[in-house]
Amino acid sequence: MGMAGIGETHPIFLAEGLADLERDLAVIYTAIAKTAQSVSKQLPFLLGMTQSLNPFGEKQAKLDVFSNDAFGEALMETGRVGWLASEELEIPLKGSSPEKDSLSIAMDPLDGSSNITTNNPLGSIFGIWRGKLPQRGRDLIAAAFVTYGPTLTLTFTTSRNVDQFVEIKEGPDSGKFALAYQNMKLPPKPEVYGIGGTRAEWIAPVERFVRKIEARGMHLRYGGTFIGDYNQILQRGGIFSYPSHKGKPGGKLRISYETAPMSFITELAGGSSSDGKISILDLSPSSLTQTSPFYVGNSDLVRELEAEIAAG
Ligand code: F6P
Repeated sequence: MGMAGIGETHPIFLAEGLADLERDLAVIYTAIAKTAQSVSKQLPFLLGMTQSLNPFGEKQAKLDVFSNDAFGEALMETGRVGWLASEELEIPLKGSSPEKDSLSIAMDPLDGSSNITTNNPLGSIFGIWRGKLPQRGRDLIAAAFVTYGPTLTLTFTTSRNVDQFVEIKEGPDSGKFALAYQNMKLPPKPEVYGIGGTRAEWIAPVERFVRKIEARGMHLRYGGTFIGDYNQILQRGGIFSYPSHKGKPGGKLRISYETAPMSFITELAGGSSSDGKISILDLSPSSLTQTSPFYVGNSDLVRELEAEIAAG
């Protein structure tokens, strides 16, 4: 993985970083970057909850609604989107070009909303396919995520790489995004892990696996926002999971909105994903709301956990 050096005289800005990409994708990534800046600006103001529920029966935060509307409008305005599905919407929005092969986006406009008041990182996730949704992760043509943390970052797949851009906050280039990490790869020596839910509910193989990796010196780092917890795996190596639970065998995270796009990014960055048996990318979800157990990170750790699960 290369650090691009934002402090250098000639940083690579987003427009240049997108120059070699298919035009439709470049336009969509640009719309995501701009909208992420508006969402980020609302963070100090939109702290409360609304009275409405999302399709999963979860109470929507004001920022959930704002992010959904802002990304929805910006992506539709590009004129490149056939269908837009959102974790916050009952049914996908129909864009101006709902053709068989037009771009379809599934998004989680605000990941980790329980962390809005705690000021932990938040995120947004985008999976981009052609044609009707849901589809297999293997058929994604691109994916991107945003982190609203100490810095605002946009990470996306190009045809070959995973690149991360960061918003510049002051100076003559303030407001632009500059390349921070090019061709990101999970480091070979894993350092950290984060596993959702409560330890008492984890299935036994997950518990055994965690004892083993702790004995090897891996550190628990868990903030409770998937994107924040995932980004540290990308940077430091390790494993993230929202596992099969005793009370929730199907896990919590949603394949189309969350795990498939992030698994696509992970595989391009040299790692692996799994539902305990097969890659998340090979699952064929029958609905946009389908969840699955989720294990993602360094390939050797994901294989080791699969073996532990197979042992029962
Ligand atoms: O999908 C919602 C989410 O907030 C994820 O961002 C996060 O990984 C998970 O839920 C946290 O769940 P829990 O609080 O059960 O660990």
